[in-house]
Amino acid sequence: MSTDPNVLLRSLVSSDPHNLKICRAFQRVAADDVLRCRAEFCYELKHRGFAIVQSDLKRRKDALSWLESLAGERDPQLADYGLDSLSGHVRHERVEFPRPLQRLDITGISAGEAVADAGAAATLHLARELHELSLTCLAAVAQHEEMPELLDLVTETPEPLHSAKEPSFLRANIYGGKDSAGPCWHLDLGLLTLAPAGSWPALMASPFHDTIGETAFLEELLDPDRDVLVFAGTALVLATASAYTGLVHGVSAGRLKQGRARVSVPYFLRPRRGATVEKPPCCDESLAYLYPAAVQPEGGAAQPVLDLLRFHRDLYGRLCARGQVVPLSAFASPELQQKVREEYYL
Ligand SMILES: [Fe+2]
Repeated sequence: MSTDPNVLLRSLVSSDPHNLKICRAFQRVAADDVLRCRAEFCYELKHRGFAIVQSDLKRRKDALSWLESLAGERDPQLADYGLDSLSGHVRHERVEFPRPLQRLDITGISAGEAVADAGAAATLHLARELHELSLTCLAAVAQHEEMPELLDLVTETPEPLHSAKEPSFLRANIYGGKDSAGPCWHLDLGLLTLAPAGSWPALMASPFHDTIGETAFLEELLDPDRDVLVFAGTALVLATASAYTGLVHGVSAGRLKQGRARVSVPYFLRPRRGATVEKPPCCDESLAYLYPAAVQPEGGAAQPVLDLLRFHRDLYGRLCARGQVVPLSAFASPELQQKVREEYYL
């Protein structure tokens, strides 16, 4: 068998050139090999819509146990866990929309050793590990696509939470076991989302995502102790002129109703404050409403650029939650109709 990576990759896809669907088993890449195996990692990310990276997340279990313990009625006090000293890098909030849940946002700040509470320290450690892994994944994309400018969109040192509306952070979602919202299909807004397995599987790929295999539940593909799901968000789509597409995903309300708390710990790698990307050349006047944040930078650069902060603010809630575009023929699939009848996707 040829060892030429291009020959190898061509052999892994369908022979139909108009229908380049992945038709192979999932390829996992070890975290230490993401840069070396960047062609394979990027191929998964680009053509399957997500990649699976094996990483030894030593503190994930401790972090999830601690976060599950916060699922009570009373809001946790950050001071009780020594987290108040990290003001600007840790935030707790309770939200009701689109579903009731608690959120604990933590940047990838390196401060785990400064916190005495073991559960809180484990969560800080997890955020740091995922931050570093997310930068490695982005570096792999930058190298593979020969787009070093992608790395200018992010900062190695995590920005405080107030530095941008949606900076890079680990978001611990603590669902309380009651839910009435649907899956709320959406795209994430950043460059990359890194999602270790939550406390139990409820994250779904869109019903129209056909390179996932037998299950719609993405976390069921993972070894919970080792695997991290990696997928692109809207900023990477824009920055690569749609070479990468975002993964439409949602959380199963049916599984959230199982009566016990669920915790998920995705890390969102997002552009730093002030980052801009070129307005996509395909963005003509008729599509301009999709890009309300297109601005002409001072100094008269040749290309207008997108102010990503404005882009996210303007787009969020307007298009992302219902931003799924699918061919109508997809509805004709008998398997899909059967699953919909069985309320599989609720
Ligand atoms: Fe999401």
